[in-house]
Amino acid sequence: MPTAESSPQPINSPETAWDSQLLQNPHAVADKRRRVQRMFAAIAPSYDLNNRLHSLWMDQRWRRKAVKLAGLKPSDRVIDVACGTGDLSLQFYFECAVANGRVATPKAQRVIGIDFTYEMLPLAREKFRAIAENWRYHYISASPRSNDLSFINGDAQALPFSDQSADVLSIAFGIRNVADPAAAIREFHRVLRPGGRLIILEFSLPTNSILRGLYNFYFRKILPRTATLISGDKTGAYKYLPESRLHVHRPRGDDGHDAGRGVCRRRAAPDDLWRLRVLSRG
Ligand SMILES: C[S@@+](CC[C@H](N)C(=O)[O-])C[C@H]1O[C@@H](n2cnc3c(N)ncnc32)[C@H](O)[C@@H]1O
Repeated sequence: MPTAESSPQPINSPETAWDSQLLQNPHAVADKRRRVQRMFAAIAPSYDLNNRLHSLWMDQRWRRKAVKLAGLKPSDRVIDVACGTGDLSLQFYFECAVANGRVATPKAQRVIGIDFTYEMLPLAREKFRAIAENWRYHYISASPRSNDLSFINGDAQALPFSDQSADVLSIAFGIRNVADPAAAIREFHRVLRPGGRLIILEFSLPTNSILRGLYNFYFRKILPRTATLISGDKTGAYKYLPESRLHVHRPRGDDGHDAGRGVCRRRAAPDDLWRLRVLSRG
């Protein structure tokens, strides 16, 4: 659970989700879940553009790396939690398609993206439709079946999947937004099969102090202005995002969000800007 509860504060305007007081520690806000949801609903239409622009087009490379480290097998069932507009789910799906020798033997619901912000899901589905169309045109004769990849509405803290039903479970730039990350990790552990892999992709802070200063300047002074301008956001989303990155939950133990729950580190690819954890379920 969040460590300190702020008194339940009315949101200042009908459109605001975050103000400077709440941003002192956004993870401790009692109704963080509702505020996060409202914020992502508001920025969903411009989410991809802002991602590409403000990561200098590096974000898709990070996701590709995550897929690579997952070590997919043709029969794997993948669940991408907090999927947003589906970028990581899509990369898993098309990777699966390749691993299968191009959807020769598709299995139902090979990749499932799940997100609790409903507004993200139509964008993800539309992206899948457009990419599948493009693939069909360039590479394949058979079309991908629509239920090979599906996007559903649901909460990381109460996943609508049976025990030990996934081989790979991922969460990209999502864990810091979950209201109770420990509860989510327990769910991941429940849903993963023994030997299944958990992929966590998140921002990290550069260790070099000069780089860290530049990075913080960019995230706190430049990005909130430009991203707010592009999205027309009034919820405070792009003030929340850099602050949530600075106040990350400290993992227990040195190697994971919950080292004591049978999810243990296998390999990781730390970088100065982002951190990728690959954990395998014991
Ligand atoms: C920064 S976006 C990341 C989206 C996507 N994974 C990507 O790589 O671009 C964070 C997403 O987490 C979702 N989210 C936050 N808390 C969640 C929860 N408890 N359950 C499901 N989704 C959640 C938000 O709705 C949002 O779409």
